[in-house]
Amino acid sequence: MPEKISSLLKTVEWKNNKVIMIDQTKLPNELIFVEYSDYLDIANAIKMLIVRGAPAIGVSGAFGLALAALQSNASTKDQLISDLEKAKKVLFDTRPTAVNLAWGLDQIMNVTKHGNTVDEICQLVINTAKQMADDDIKINMTMGKHGSQLFDDNDTIMTHCNAGSLATVAYGTALGVIRATKESGKNIKVIATETRPVQQGSRLTAFELKHDGFDVSLIPDTAVGYTMANNLVNKVVVGADRVLRTGHVYNKIGTYQVALMAKQHGIPFYVAAPLSTFDMKSNPQDVIIEQRRGSEVTQIGDKKTAPDGINVINPAFDMTPPELISGIITEAGVAKPPFAESITKLFEANK
Ligand code: MRU
Repeated sequence: MPEKISSLLKTVEWKNNKVIMIDQTKLPNELIFVEYSDYLDIANAIKMLIVRGAPAIGVSGAFGLALAALQSNASTKDQLISDLEKAKKVLFDTRPTAVNLAWGLDQIMNVTKHGNTVDEICQLVINTAKQMADDDIKINMTMGKHGSQLFDDNDTIMTHCNAGSLATVAYGTALGVIRATKESGKNIKVIATETRPVQQGSRLTAFELKHDGFDVSLIPDTAVGYTMANNLVNKVVVGADRVLRTGHVYNKIGTYQVALMAKQHGIPFYVAAPLSTFDMKSNPQDVIIEQRRGSEVTQIGDKKTAPDGINVINPAFDMTPPELISGIITEAGVAKPPFAESITKLFEANK
């Protein structure tokens, strides 16, 4: 088993002009850190889920561009920007659904406009990426405080996938809310869904919460209805990969089922997401749902669990419509239905 993991252990970090990441594919059996100095390796790490979770891949994309700036042999500002544009495309193409990746890449490309020389731009890019990583933790803590007010003493809170420390730089979004609720002195229990097929719930959420001393129980995804029907859950909180201005929420596959069942049982269903996860331009038909390889479904680890040659449908995310959502927790406050109004207000107040 890995050594004790603290809630502020960084999932992704910039150190000595290198990017250090926890290899999440090895958890919960081994806590291994990988070190990268080539942006192509960052792109591969995002694709292979070595780093995953919307805010964590946003910051990783930004660090990828910082590495690309260091790798560039450009002698003019225009050459450097052209090298960064090429790297941006490679990083952007890794995973299509989480909007934080595009957000992180755009933030970095925007700062390149403020530098006059190659060295100045290089430094600006690195500093901005490092700042984004620091901001991520502060934002999660603020979001946690807002969200904790929605939860009561003795609540049992269900969460799906991993929206924890491991999905961010540290602290987490949905798990950040759960952490802040406990830190406020409330006695709470957590139910983590296993989250097939990649098992972010059992491998990451159960691991992270158990190591941080939470009372956490793991259930198979198929037991969501049972636990709700038997009054074993009071509230649900999940993270998000993309939230539209209408309140449509894209998150790990299975979230929609959890939300539907929560509605059926009168259980409040909350989403926790930083403003960087909001896509204020797209409509539901514009959002690309990542389709992942079939072997995630036909195997568990190296063990085959399905016949050779079987057709597989393996979407990584689904969409939960606004009518199933009780509130969306952000660092700027909690948006309540009707979301088209409340989300616009949150953004206007944060301009
Ligand atoms: O495929 P993953 O593991 O990157 O999916 C992650 C999720 O769906 C999380 O719930 C989401 O990114 C929110 S993370 C704070």
